[in-house]
Amino acid sequence: MKNKKQQQAGKSRQTTPAARVQRELLPEQSTELLKELHILTRDGQLNADSRRKLKQINHLANLLTPDLERLFGEDRDPLIIDAGAGNGYLGFVLYELWCQPNGRGTVLNLELREDLVTRARERATTLGYERMVYEQQAVAELVPHEALDRPPVWHDRPVDAVVALHACDTATDDAIELGIRAGASVIAVVPCCQAEIARLLAGTAVHAPAGALWRHPIHRREFGANLTNVIRAHVLEAFGYQVTVTELTGWEHSLKNELILARKVQRRNSLALKHLQQLLAGLPYLPMGLLERLLPAEPDASESLAEMAAAEA
Ligand SMILES: C[S@@+](CC[C@H](N)C(=O)[O-])C[C@H]1O[C@@H](n2cnc3c(N)ncnc32)[C@H](O)[C@@H]1O
Repeated sequence: MKNKKQQQAGKSRQTTPAARVQRELLPEQSTELLKELHILTRDGQLNADSRRKLKQINHLANLLTPDLERLFGEDRDPLIIDAGAGNGYLGFVLYELWCQPNGRGTVLNLELREDLVTRARERATTLGYERMVYEQQAVAELVPHEALDRPPVWHDRPVDAVVALHACDTATDDAIELGIRAGASVIAVVPCCQAEIARLLAGTAVHAPAGALWRHPIHRREFGANLTNVIRAHVLEAFGYQVTVTELTGWEHSLKNELILARKVQRRNSLALKHLQQLLAGLPYLPMGLLERLLPAEPDASESLAEMAAAEA
């Protein structure tokens, strides 16, 4: 006899027949779009892998509802960036639910792979989604590193929201930096693999006070991933975001499941910065790209905050 876990695993492997697909959808979400994205089969069924993807995307889209309601409620033309967009499933869904009915708003997808960019552009054309835009470029390229006193813009348009669903390794950090420098009102990331800090820890002495936490490779990987997300959340807080960290969907749907959702509520938060500095002080020096770019350790970590504040003024 199967135990509960096995029964659940069996269930999550099953195909959902067309007649039951509706209950997986958001209000106003069409099966036509999902068929075009090959999330649903031609006869409207949902296989197990696509169901997992749909659950993640819909849950994230749902959590963003209050932010999008606010952005689209204002009399403006919001710019939403999907960093590391892949096939653009999330962007297409956001477009259908928000940009299409409102007749305004743009989803800008940043993606490195040419084949994915080409296919997504074809889909956008087929669907008539004129403001579903794909650029084949790295996320970091949108940040004007040569002139950091200017916030990132796209064709002179300010960035309102940045989302990154499973953007690989440090691409998630690039998305966070892009959102922070742009002053985006919402930044939502679900990190993917994250190896940078584990690599940095591998080169440090394990007899440092906390060294036991990363002595064994498997602990180093897990601790490194956890520390990475803790640092990301603190950096966002330091830059004036209110941050929640939660599961995106149940772990049976994805192991890469941690959602960092950040909403801009104030200019800066010096207490969060202090906590981050205290945390880092208890660890070996970690030249993590995100920290180095946003909070240089020398001579004073608050310097770049002050520079950004001055540039904003
Ligand atoms: C795991 S996929 C996730 C795709 C999509 N967000 C999703 O959830 O279905 C990560 C994508 O990010 C892209 N990518 C990785 N690094 C990137 C970077 N620095 N800039 C832009 N895209 C990047 C990869 O080519 C890949 O398509």
